[in-house]
Amino acid sequence: MFQDVIVAALFRTFHARVDDALLDRAARDAGAASAIGRLSLLSDALVAQAIATLRLAPNETLLDLGCGRGFLARWLRNAGMSADYVGIDRIPEALGAARAMLGDDPRARFVEGDYRTYRATPVDAIAALEVTGDGAIDAPLLDAIAANLRPGGRFVLTVASLDDRNAPRRAEANAALRARFARSDIRDATVEAADFAQRFYGAMLAIDGWDPSIAPRMAAQANEVCNAIAAGSFTYAIVSGTR
Ligand SMILES: C[S@@+](CC[C@H](N)C(=O)[O-])C[C@H]1O[C@@H](n2cnc3c(N)ncnc32)[C@H](O)[C@@H]1O
Repeated sequence: MFQDVIVAALFRTFHARVDDALLDRAARDAGAASAIGRLSLLSDALVAQAIATLRLAPNETLLDLGCGRGFLARWLRNAGMSADYVGIDRIPEALGAARAMLGDDPRARFVEGDYRTYRATPVDAIAALEVTGDGAIDAPLLDAIAANLRPGGRFVLTVASLDDRNAPRRAEANAALRARFARSDIRDATVEAADFAQRFYGAMLAIDGWDPSIAPRMAAQANEVCNAIAAGSFTYAIVSGTR
């Protein structure tokens, strides 16, 4: 719990000081045609694959757990996909940035909350992009998805692991998924995510204008991920399914 408080304080500082125009530039320089900044290692192609698994119809509602600065809402709008969108995050500064970029969209709403306790009218589809820690397809996230998804609703979550010893064991993860969902699939996307991560972090580190109070942490994270990729211990999974 104390750890939670420290991590949240670090994230609040990061979100208060990071510049979305620079994140967008890093995404563009890394080869993302959307030029939309993200806090994940998903290339545009991987986001497109993840979202395709949701089979979103125009009038459906999509819940984005751990929405951060509104990357997915911006990406969907850029792709011309319309859905009623609700983003949940526990960092108010991240939501402030999301509202500043998407506040003009009457179909996009951002709510401050913890997905572990968030419960509302069940929706048609749920996304959770890189929301859990190292390698975890954890029970609280799966419970939140199951509780907030209507029967027949679809979900997709992505999870990165820097140490393959933490990567979810297939059998364990499949059992946790089968206990809650009618259908599920785990797709390995390590090669694609590693390729984009290297380009994205390279582009980020080449940019000069980051706030000096957050630049060292960004560089440390970039190095940690790139070292894990070089050591062959990085893995990435896209998990999708139907309730
Ligand atoms: C790595 S960022 C990814 C953000 C976004 N999905 C994206 O792709 O740009 C993880 C996000 O999950 C949020 N998060 C983590 N645990 C959460 C929780 N229990 N409840 C709500 N948000 C959470 C963090 O605040 C952070 O914004």
